[in-house]
Amino acid sequence: MEQERICPWWLGYTLILPIRKLQHDPQKILTPHVNPGMTVMDYGCAMGYFSIPLARMTGSGGKVYCVDIQEKMLAKLRKRAAKYAVADIIVPLQVGKDYHAANLQGKLDFALLFAVVHEVPDKAALFADMFAMLKPGGKILFVEPQNHVTTEEFRKSIAMARDAGFNELDEKPLKKGLAVLLVKY
Ligand SMILES: C[S@@+](CC[C@H](N)C(=O)[O-])C[C@H]1O[C@@H](n2cnc3c(N)ncnc32)[C@H](O)[C@@H]1O
Repeated sequence: MEQERICPWWLGYTLILPIRKLQHDPQKILTPHVNPGMTVMDYGCAMGYFSIPLARMTGSGGKVYCVDIQEKMLAKLRKRAAKYAVADIIVPLQVGKDYHAANLQGKLDFALLFAVVHEVPDKAALFADMFAMLKPGGKILFVEPQNHVTTEEFRKSIAMARDAGFNELDEKPLKKGLAVLLVKY
């Protein structure tokens, strides 16, 4: 399957700028879904804009698996995790290297797919892996950027998630944009 266009690693620095909070406030976006002690995944984590807040929310009793395909994104994430004293909670994993969905079957309470699915060539396989990794009752917050993804493309991805076994919840997880909550019953 052909690789979609991947966000260049140097753009990762713009994704961690504090001003982004005006549009994507991690506290507001994630707090309703993440509790202390949870095991969660930030898939397509880049330099960890959401991973660090996720680690603070799960606390030392939890785990945040941070998956990306680019080592440079994960290298910066490791440095930031140390700086913010959450390195013991964060587990960086690289696609094609040490990320193996089969090792995490039935382990996750929650997964974040924020602005990444449109970059993944085999979306059906991604949702199938997510379904296998989540516990029953586990949720995905799935968000896509409106400047790269049409509503029709977003609906197609949701259809693939449904085919993998997910149900779409009625609640709206973000005020604006392409965002949905998916649950594994
Ligand atoms: C637009 S960035 C979004 C980053 C982050 N979720 C955020 O909102 O700040 C997309 C990220 O997905 C990663 N990515 C692209 N294809 C991927 C794949 N097949 N598996 C895992 N990560 C991937 C890119 O390297 C990049 O870091």
